[in-house]
Amino acid sequence: DWTMEKFLEQAIAQIRETVGEKGQVLAAVSGGVDSTVAAKLMKEAIGDRFWAVLVNNGVMRLNECEQVQKDLSEALGINLTVVDASKEFLEGLKGITDPEKKRKFIGGKFIDIFEAEAIKIEEAAAKDPTKGGGKIEFFMQGTLYPDVIESLSFKGPSATIKTHHNVGGLPERMMNGQGLKLIEPLRSLYKDEVRALGRALGIREELVMRHPFPGPGIAVRILGEVTPEKVEIARQADHIFISEIRKAGLYDQISQAYAAVDPSRAVGVMGDKRVYGYIVVLRAVTTTDFMTAEAFNFPWEFLQRVMNRIVNEVHGVCRVVYDITSKPPGTIELE
Ligand code: XMP
Repeated sequence: DWTMEKFLEQAIAQIRETVGEKGQVLAAVSGGVDSTVAAKLMKEAIGDRFWAVLVNNGVMRLNECEQVQKDLSEALGINLTVVDASKEFLEGLKGITDPEKKRKFIGGKFIDIFEAEAIKIEEAAAKDPTKGGGKIEFFMQGTLYPDVIESLSFKGPSATIKTHHNVGGLPERMMNGQGLKLIEPLRSLYKDEVRALGRALGIREELVMRHPFPGPGIAVRILGEVTPEKVEIARQADHIFISEIRKAGLYDQISQAYAAVDPSRAVGVMGDKRVYGYIVVLRAVTTTDFMTAEAFNFPWEFLQRVMNRIVNEVHGVCRVVYDITSKPPGTIELE
């Protein structure tokens, strides 16, 4: 019979057998549930011969990069390299308003930065005998069973609707361009099993229960052009919204929640002055498969509290709206 402890034992044995005594493994991590659990599993199996890379793309949430670094490197002991490319990303996003162009730019730039880092790691790994001294031969990805199924049945309109995938194109590039072999230790698991595995590996509960977050991050939560000012507003508003959701004990009842920025501005009064400020859009949904979703039914007092905090604490915002659209016809993200 199947238990998590047995699975863990077998998964570690299998990774060791695949990678061998000297093999090195590279991966991109985000701080999300799947990549974190997969990374910790690799760390347990092969120690520092597993190399995780976190790219700060400038559109992560408030303090997120620092928090992921703490969790993965300090708490879980994973061999992690953080690349801060936020300036490069924000510079490149200037003038781009089309959602798919944003995704394309962020995905492409991510691959370029990751590949450059991979070369540096390759050199470091070869020089450092404590880290095995071998060549990097594998690229690890936290693919789950539902992703495997989905890519097998990739026909019809959903293929074009879902151009998403956290690091679209990266595994192909690492396999074909760098000649690495793909290793996917979570391939047979469903999401709830990955969470259970995460707990068995000692990953803290808040991280194990994290909502998903899109690869292009806040960039698809700012309608139109992404500017540092709007990223900052989205970050502050999102932080308030998510903190209040946690405080109210609602986080685990919601599948995904965030604050977005509408760049068209509305008139308001603050103190005795007329102001002209951005509109913050709050979105929170429940869903089982992310293909259909319903807006979460918050108590009115909760929404009022969040609205009050955002207009008072986030500079440049004078309106807060709650998006009640279901999916379909709305999507979960605004772009
Ligand atoms: P939509 O907006 O299509 O989102 O209803 C469904 C799920 O996919 C996530 N999403 C993305 N994830 N890159 C990602 O890695 C993307 O470009 C992307 N767009 C949407 C979204 O957050 C939700 O969980």
